[in-house]
Amino acid sequence: MQAASVDDYRELARRRLPRFLFEYIDGGSYGEVTLARNRADLADIALRQRVLRDVSQIDLSTRILGQDFAMPVGLAPIGLAGMNARRGECQAVRAAEKAGIPFTLSTVSACPLGEVAAAATRSFWFQLYMIRDRDFMRDLLAQAAQMGCPTLVFTVDMPVPGSRYRDYRSGLAGAPGLAGGLRRFAQALTRPRWAWDVGLWGRPHALGNVAPVLGPNTGLEDFFAWMRGNFEPKVGWDDIGWIRSQWPGSIMIKGILDPEDAVLASQAGADAIVVSNHGGRQLDGALSTARALPPIVEAVAGSMPILADGGVRSGLDVVRMLALGAQGVLLGRAWAYALAAGGEAAISHMLDLVRAEMQVAMALTGTTRLADIGEDIIDRLA
Ligand code: GLV
Repeated sequence: MQAASVDDYRELARRRLPRFLFEYIDGGSYGEVTLARNRADLADIALRQRVLRDVSQIDLSTRILGQDFAMPVGLAPIGLAGMNARRGECQAVRAAEKAGIPFTLSTVSACPLGEVAAAATRSFWFQLYMIRDRDFMRDLLAQAAQMGCPTLVFTVDMPVPGSRYRDYRSGLAGAPGLAGGLRRFAQALTRPRWAWDVGLWGRPHALGNVAPVLGPNTGLEDFFAWMRGNFEPKVGWDDIGWIRSQWPGSIMIKGILDPEDAVLASQAGADAIVVSNHGGRQLDGALSTARALPPIVEAVAGSMPILADGGVRSGLDVVRMLALGAQGVLLGRAWAYALAAGGEAAISHMLDLVRAEMQVAMALTGTTRLADIGEDIIDRLA
């Protein structure tokens, strides 16, 4: 199947990945209400068709936190994404570089910082969770700074994990020991291409940045246990100051969904925020990001860049988010699906699709520069 859209890449990923990995990427928390809202609310935004404007030159270039990018799109941090293809984050960082956009490495990536830095030729962003062990965090931040990461994406919407029912059904969660291992092994056998590419040749299967503190011979469940035991629920606004004292670069706070928190983030010294509900994977029932974004934009009143994610499956969706007031959009599942479907080349192709879709959406709404994209190119249907 030749993929023509992000949804096609999702279908290819479903065919390629063992069930526990596909469901982990694809699913949301609890009843998946917010997961569905993210997409439905974007789809409910009508783009105003405008005609007979000169749209021969469309410029997608942008500047975010002092860095120039070819388009206002970045690859969001995704835990374990590197398990979707052999040494997956290394493939993804290269695809992002070729497209001239930022890649964000998750704290809980498969490939560790050093391996991704060795695969990259340009700098990438690093995502941080608040971890109880400050020495571990200090060391991680020092490593990321040493690798030249200019921006820290600090995720704040996961002081405790939301429950993902699909992970229990697939055997990724709640199936410890041999029984869980055998279930996942059986699923891997039904996906021979993945079993060869990643299962056999993609080792080590670990959370690369965490492996040094866990030691050798650890299984997937040890890493999940580490996450449950080490994410810091006490994290508060004061901690931004501590992070600032450890981090020389920009700080982007990811997981803001409320205008009051956006203002607090600005007061706490954030350089940028990402309006996000963690792709519908945390507080189920929370607002979609498409609904949350406009009041946040109003509250922040241009004092810092605002990025957004959640439910974005096409360049048209990117344009919708920009029209709602975002300066940039992070793609999460989209790149994880493409990575599973065909590695670096597929991510590059998916980004080509998104770029072309953006160009067409802009041409048909009569806009040629990002600065032209605003509330006046959309109508809300619901
Ligand atoms: C991790 O960030 C997850 O959503 O699983």
